[in-house]
Amino acid sequence: MLEVKNIELSHGKLQVLWDISLTVGEGECVGLLGANGAGKSSTMGALMGIYPLQSGSITFLGKSITEFEVNELIMLGIALVPEGRKLFTQMTVEENLMMGAYIKGKRASIDAGLESVYSLFPILKEKRLQMAGQLSGGQQQMVTIGRALMSKPKMLLLDEPFIGVAPKLVIEIMQALREINQGGVSMILVEQNVHRALEFVTRAYVIENGRNVLEGDAKLILSDEHFQEKFLGIH
Ligand SMILES: Nc1ncnc2c1ncn2[C@@H]1O[C@H](COP(=O)(O)OP(=O)(O)OP(=O)(O)O)[C@@H](O)[C@H]1O
Ligand SMILES: [Mg+2]
Repeated sequence: MLEVKNIELSHGKLQVLWDISLTVGEGECVGLLGANGAGKSSTMGALMGIYPLQSGSITFLGKSITEFEVNELIMLGIALVPEGRKLFTQMTVEENLMMGAYIKGKRASIDAGLESVYSLFPILKEKRLQMAGQLSGGQQQMVTIGRALMSKPKMLLLDEPFIGVAPKLVIEIMQALREINQGGVSMILVEQNVHRALEFVTRAYVIENGRNVLEGDAKLILSDEHFQEKFLGIH
């Protein structure tokens, strides 16, 4: 479904991705792991068309999307839940959700989108007219996920969606993400808590300094010695 081949990317003069490749199958949920600064968010930004590539290629549903811009990618069915949420805190929950409804003017489809977000996260319906900034961290994260769902994505890119979320809500949000995935939406999950990530995904990639260092199914990664030493502090 998604095929990323040997991508390179720089922020100004600083090269951050040197050679990243990954694939995601139809309906698959894949993890992207790595230390701070490894290039996880840069990879997500590249997939969303936020940062242009220096080299390499990206194919989605058989189509080359290497040069596509954000709005075209949203239309094709890719949506990003960005690191740090990026909500409009002075706007209501519902206004924030509407920002994600890409096809403007089709009121019926926007309403259906809102209803499906509210059935996934009922608390957001209760708080739909409150300013997003008044919600708890976890509830704000629900808004961010809901906003991404408003464009009816086929693939959801989740960049550390559990940061600043209370443990109880982490479980609730994970269940919702599972439901979304079982509904056929493929996912890439960037997550700091590697145990949590590897419980959730079936397969993962580990990157270091903008390069792939390890990939495979979740169990295999957990048993890798280099990975244990680096990420789990086991020597
Ligand atoms: N917009 C930007 N402009 C300049 N440098 C950036 C920008 N975004 C990221 N960087 C740098 O690129 C490198 C990779 O950052 P990136 O955010 O992709 O890593 P990450 O794996 O997501 O890290 P984290 O776990 O901290 O979120 C880092 O050295 C970072 O400082
Ligand atoms: Mg990041």
